[in-house]
Amino acid sequence: MADKTATLTVGDSSYEFPVLEGSVGPEVFDIRKLYGAAHMFTYDPGFTSTASCESALTYIDGEEGVLLHRGYPIGQLAEHSSFMEVSYLLLNGELPNQSELDGFARTISRHTMLHEQLATFYRGFRRDAHPMAIMCGVVGALSAFYHDSTDIADPEHRRISSHRLIAKMPTIAAAAYKYSVGQPMMYPDNSLSYTGNFLRMTFGVPAEPYEVNPVVEKAMDRIFILHADHEQNASTSTVRLAGSSGANPFACIAAGIACLWGPAHGGANEAALNMLREIGTPDKIPHYIERAKDKNDPFRLMGFGHRVYKNYDPRATVMQKTVREVFESLKVSDPLFETALRLEEIALSDPYFIEKKLFPNVDFYSGIILSAIGFPTTMFTALFALARTVGWVAHWNEMISDPGQKIGRPRQLYTGPVERDYVEMGKR
Ligand code: CMC
Repeated sequence: MADKTATLTVGDSSYEFPVLEGSVGPEVFDIRKLYGAAHMFTYDPGFTSTASCESALTYIDGEEGVLLHRGYPIGQLAEHSSFMEVSYLLLNGELPNQSELDGFARTISRHTMLHEQLATFYRGFRRDAHPMAIMCGVVGALSAFYHDSTDIADPEHRRISSHRLIAKMPTIAAAAYKYSVGQPMMYPDNSLSYTGNFLRMTFGVPAEPYEVNPVVEKAMDRIFILHADHEQNASTSTVRLAGSSGANPFACIAAGIACLWGPAHGGANEAALNMLREIGTPDKIPHYIERAKDKNDPFRLMGFGHRVYKNYDPRATVMQKTVREVFESLKVSDPLFETALRLEEIALSDPYFIEKKLFPNVDFYSGIILSAIGFPTTMFTALFALARTVGWVAHWNEMISDPGQKIGRPRQLYTGPVERDYVEMGKR
């Protein structure tokens, strides 16, 4: 039994449970033996108070607005690091030295091409298909292409699958965009950086040379860093749950993409920019604030609020700064940025948002930069998926390599009919 225990009293019976301590953050009651001891389950839909696993990847303190990857604050990583370096860090636990980073980037660049057969697969989609629908399908389909590395019990197989996923995601996302605009898909150019290559595959055409704009490359890379991981969010938990049965890694990531698509999760970046466009000018803001507060109106301020952050999302701070940098460097502006800043100001001084601790999240400003770079709104969540793939595979690896790993199998509070006899058709 752990040093500290918690006692649960139900009627005349008491049960003692170990209290586990992480390296930082709230302690947890270990209730794994609850059912055996008390024949009771815990009830926590939405997992608001449930730690679903042990993890050493990412730490969030939602009250203080802190986000750490392997201990490093997101602000420092966004300022000084690169997406490749953060990917290495998430996968391996430590920052790489120069030769480790070069080796990692080289390995990833060797896996950037897609099997040529996949081009045919794309052609099966309607031209107006949402890129997330294409990503779900294509990433799931990868499970039919790589039979050589799917022994998930073999760490080397897991490593190759992880590298393939991280490397191919930009090619897959860019191809989804190219398909939607009717342009030829671009093959990767491995002489470019991970992010530069993605920009070229998205905005370049085979007929002309494409020069990567270093300001855009830096901003895009930073956006990828900001989305790389976020501990046990809905899509990551989906990947873990899918993977817990021993499923094919590509299929597990496709499950994560499906979950990310929803407007309460990754789909919020698309919804947030659409909302800002609908609001248009700052004079319309009060009307939308009133709608967001109205319980009878389903409208919510997209890009606001978070399950974990009850303070400013630290990713939103970096994102807001990046908008300014991109606008200054590219000498562009967008009146929607002014609308967004004003909306934030009005919302943060409104008692409704103050009491409920609703602050801008990562998605509030990301759409403004992505739009300035030239992405259509439908691509926003696909970019989130691209970046989050490293988090998904890091969690998937962490879970599979945990010797205590079990299939995820929640229980329920059953409220349906109790046992009854089948009624013949003629007697109903
Ligand atoms: N606008 C207006 N009211 C809100 C909002 C919002 N954006 N978010 C939460 N509320 C209210 C909600 O109505 C509820 O009020 P009450 O207590 O009176 O019923 C209260 O705040 C708590 O909200 P909740 O839905 O119970 O909280 P949650 O933790 O289940 O939901 C959330 C978190 C992110 C789904 C929610 O804040 C939301 O829908 N935000 C808009 C969508 C969004 O921006 N999502 C991106 C999240 S960050 C990127 C990512 O990680 O995917």
